[in-house]
Amino acid sequence: MTGSVTSAAVTQTPALDQSADSHVMDEKFAGSMCFVVTFMRALESDRADRVVNDPFAESLVRKARPTLLRLLASWFEAQQHPSNFIGLRTRYHDEALNQRNPEIRQVVFLGSGLDARAFRLESLRDCHVLEIDQSARILSHKKDVMAELDAPLLASKHDCIVAELMGADWEKKLLASGFDPSIPTFWGMEGLLMYLSRESNTALLKAIDALSAPGSQFWADMSGEVMLKQAELNMLKAVDSLKDTEMAKPMIKYGEDDAMHGVLSEISWQLEEQAAMLTAGTHFGREWTPALTGASKQPVSYTFVVGSKPVAVVA
Ligand SMILES: C[S@@+](CC[C@H](N)C(=O)[O-])C[C@H]1O[C@@H](n2cnc3c(N)ncnc32)[C@H](O)[C@@H]1O
Repeated sequence: MTGSVTSAAVTQTPALDQSADSHVMDEKFAGSMCFVVTFMRALESDRADRVVNDPFAESLVRKARPTLLRLLASWFEAQQHPSNFIGLRTRYHDEALNQRNPEIRQVVFLGSGLDARAFRLESLRDCHVLEIDQSARILSHKKDVMAELDAPLLASKHDCIVAELMGADWEKKLLASGFDPSIPTFWGMEGLLMYLSRESNTALLKAIDALSAPGSQFWADMSGEVMLKQAELNMLKAVDSLKDTEMAKPMIKYGEDDAMHGVLSEISWQLEEQAAMLTAGTHFGREWTPALTGASKQPVSYTFVVGSKPVAVVA
């Protein structure tokens, strides 16, 4: 049975996104990373051998498609399978959610963008799903597309909150939206940490820790330090050629080569390396070859990490 939407209001905060009222899919909006990754999910979902199926991705990016095709043309030419990385990232995050602590019925996606899991991931059925993103326009776009599709919500309650994660405001908004800190939570941080500074990542993790009951978990992806050198990666170079996206410049602010001993260790949660994508291999039947840097041809590291807040207090 489909869960009912008890609250799906997108709180508009014009100060965070002055273009929130625009109905035109302009290039700057269409070229944001949010659309890029959702476009990759749409391409992946269209493959016969897909590792993930997001049936909403194509609709979510349809109006951005002409811009994305032009923007990513040279990158597509160089890539045999452009959707490999996002397909596998999304699948690993899905797997972490599917295999989470079974007591977790509250899920928060931070930097959620066009994430459609509240509508597509069966393991979130009857959960309270909360999403936070800085962009009112992105969340409004998602709300509009899902309404046009009449997409049935799997979550029992779905709150989309516009808030800046580099500050304390988001915590108040989360609590005001019915977030319950007394029950365990799953925190999804897909494609987020790279956009925050080390200090902001630390503050975010400490806030997550303070809001989390024992048994809570998080999922995060960490890209290698080479990502800080944007010119090394053709795709990012292409996207960055569109100035003034919703993300502050410089776009990529943080990366770590050893994700198990970096910023994620600043809270006393148990960390599990779910996958490290530094070497060639096979993931969910898909052959993976690491992306190479443009100039030095070094493999780019990506690590997917699951964190669990111990039930017993760590001394
Ligand atoms: C690359 S997108 C990833 C979206 C989604 N998690 C996914 O994987 O499809 C990054 C998202 O994080 C949001 N974001 C980046 N920095 C943020 C911040 N400081 N506060 C709130 N949201 C932020 C962006 O608006 C964007 O929607």
